Amino acid sequence: MLYLTPEEQSLLDGAAGPGVKRAMEIVVALGRIYGAPDLVPVSHVQISGVSYKNLGDAGVDFLNEWAEQGAKTVVPTTLNPAGMELDRWEAMGISPGFARPQLTAIGAFVRMGVTPTMSCTPYLMPGFAPKRGDHLAWAESSAVAWANSVVGAFSNREGGPSALAAALVGRTARYGYHLEEERRATHVVEVTCPVPDIADFGALSYLVGKAVGNGVPYFPDLGAWLPPLPEDLTLGGEAGDRLKTLGAGVAAYGAVALYHIAGYTPEARDQGERLLRPDAQRIVIDSLAPAYAVMDANPETTAIDLVTIGCPHASYTELQQVAERLQGHNLTTRLWVTTSRITRERAAQDGWVQIIEAAGGEVVADTCAVVAPMRALNVKRMATNAGKMACYAPMHSGVDMRFGDMEQCLEAAITGKWR
Ligand code: F3S
Repeated sequence: MLYLTPEEQSLLDGAAGPGVKRAMEIVVALGRIYGAPDLVPVSHVQISGVSYKNLGDAGVDFLNEWAEQGAKTVVPTTLNPAGMELDRWEAMGISPGFARPQLTAIGAFVRMGVTPTMSCTPYLMPGFAPKRGDHLAWAESSAVAWANSVVGAFSNREGGPSALAAALVGRTARYGYHLEEERRATHVVEVTCPVPDIADFGALSYLVGKAVGNGVPYFPDLGAWLPPLPEDLTLGGEAGDRLKTLGAGVAAYGAVALYHIAGYTPEARDQGERLLRPDAQRIVIDSLAPAYAVMDANPETTAIDLVTIGCPHASYTELQQVAERLQGHNLTTRLWVTTSRITRERAAQDGWVQIIEAAGGEVVADTCAVVAPMRALNVKRMATNAGKMACYAPMHSGVDMRFGDMEQCLEAAITGKWR
């Protein structure tokens, strides 16, 4: 039986108007379906499904209608990437037929009080990054994995409409990863092969995601491959970038929303093996080769149309690494480093963006190569170092895919060929 406070009941009865009533109906319906005891206030909402490529005309109409009902967000709310860079879409080669409905959708979100950050990495944004113990309603699966695992915040994997509903009422149903008991590990994943690179963490994410599904993996030994996290987590850092890739991949190849690393992630540091369920299954990963064989999907492809770095959106550290490697080079193939506007501005202050652009690369904000209309941009052969991009771009954009480490990707950008 779902308990509602008198205030929640009045919102459900329509006291704050039809838009809020609709939002409360969604939150309450989910609570009843999942057997939640009550609703929990959330401190931040992240909305996904923002690209016109995903929304279509029906989705844009749905958002406009909700905005016209006067509903407004009551907690800080941010947006996932859209299908284009909002003020540079013409230069990107996006057609007006795509751009107009995309801008209409963003306008509807903004009218409802959403901050148009257009990034899948709210945790890399000063001012929005969550704290341990925060309850969130985040819909971007890679960000949910980060918030739950790296920060120790509490979020389920919301859908786009349920996240927006939570933003309009400031609450979500208390079930799943909002409950301590549900956060215990279902699998112990021993990694006995080396994982020295971000791409290796992407390959690992493939194997773990496939093996664990929607379980909660506990890694007893992965901390050996992770330097300490930076004090300012919003910079990313070498460790943060590896974990960003791991979380995105296990969420994409499986449906993992939370993992623990012994001695490293907050709950594992505090509770150690007490986090394991008594029936936790043991899995051993002793080679990444099977993952590379699948993810590097088109080994016959050597000419590359687009190299893409930054899935999830690139951190400050990744922009710095790309810039340092490209200094003094001229690219022969198109390079997108996709990131948030906030991170791009931070990196530009230190000159990293200018170095990438001087080499001929593009530091693209607001979008990524999965949610942008890549076929219309005539991209057929792509290369990446990101596990999730290797999974989704062939599916969503029909491209051939080469997957490897950052050095292979940047070399392909410089030479135009995959080595
Ligand atoms: Fe972000 Fe796009 Fe990857 S939304 S997680 S960069 S697929």
